[in-house]
Amino acid sequence: MIKSLQDTTTLHNGVKMPMFGLGVWQVEDGSTVIHSVKSAIKAGYRAIDTAAAYKNETGVGQAIKESGIPREELFITTKVWNSDQGYESTLAAFDASMEKLGLDYIDLYLIHWPTKGKYKDTWRAIEKLYKDGKAKAIGVCNFHQHHLEDLLADAEIVPMVNQIELHPLLTQKELIDYCRQKDIKVEAYSPLGSGKVLDHPDIARIAEIHGKSVAQVILRWDLQNGIIVIPKSTKESRIIENSDVFDFELSDEEMKRIDQCNKNERVGADPDNFNF
Ligand SMILES: NC(=O)c1ccc[n+]([C@@H]2O[C@H](COP(=O)([O-])OP(=O)(O)OC[C@H]3O[C@@H](n4cnc5c(N)ncnc54)[C@H](OP(=O)(O)O)[C@@H]3O)[C@@H](O)[C@H]2O)c1
Repeated sequence: MIKSLQDTTTLHNGVKMPMFGLGVWQVEDGSTVIHSVKSAIKAGYRAIDTAAAYKNETGVGQAIKESGIPREELFITTKVWNSDQGYESTLAAFDASMEKLGLDYIDLYLIHWPTKGKYKDTWRAIEKLYKDGKAKAIGVCNFHQHHLEDLLADAEIVPMVNQIELHPLLTQKELIDYCRQKDIKVEAYSPLGSGKVLDHPDIARIAEIHGKSVAQVILRWDLQNGIIVIPKSTKESRIIENSDVFDFELSDEEMKRIDQCNKNERVGADPDNFNF
């Protein structure tokens, strides 16, 4: 079981990825994202999850530089956006992201959404970036099992990570099982349901027993399930609170109780039906 904020999981290519990171979707570029990322790194976070589509890679890059932490101790993820999918356009999008981030390699490069008719060419480009050493690990987001099966039919390299919406209202048990069979690590995005699952009465009861917040209980549930998490906050106090989950343990019964909150309910788009 993971014991600290900097504990890692080993991806199938041997790369070590922190189990806990900061997400920066909907965080404004410039001083806001710089403050968030620097607060997280100061609190001990070592992983940051951004994307070209978040339009804050420049600020993330500046915060990394100003943090004073050696590059090799940080784990930075970014993603190729849907309109850039395709072979050549993905290679160009990668260079643009690196330029903004001010980095010469990325730790994890992901396909943001399974754009129909495009994601296989995108994946070939990402495989090239991996072989060239520019991306130390590669993966996908928002891939259902059928998307993964389709990709794997032609892929040379199995994705190391599938980043999916996952929280107590959407527990994704079948997809987790499938990913485990294929040695693909599951990373939970919107682990707090973008802030919408924080008033769940059953989880509030568990939180009270442990003297913890609902957010902390949910993040602890993920970690005990072996799921990588990237909660987002722009507030330093919450960034610290979210990472303070290593001094308590949920019982098997509590873990089951949270599993039972599942309603297959999304706060974001369904990967089978998105229009962006
Ligand atoms: N691959 C994809 O398609 C995809 C899609 C969505 C998200 N993601 C990634 O996943 C990350 C996390 O997901 P998310 O941003 O949707 O949401 P989230 O982490 O589930 O929740 C963030 C929301 O909860 C609030 N919050 C955070 N900690 C809290 C706490 N301790 N107590 C009360 N409220 C709290 C935040 O508000 P404040 O900021 O005001 O604190 C924010 O409104 C994203 O930032 C992004 O990196 C990826």
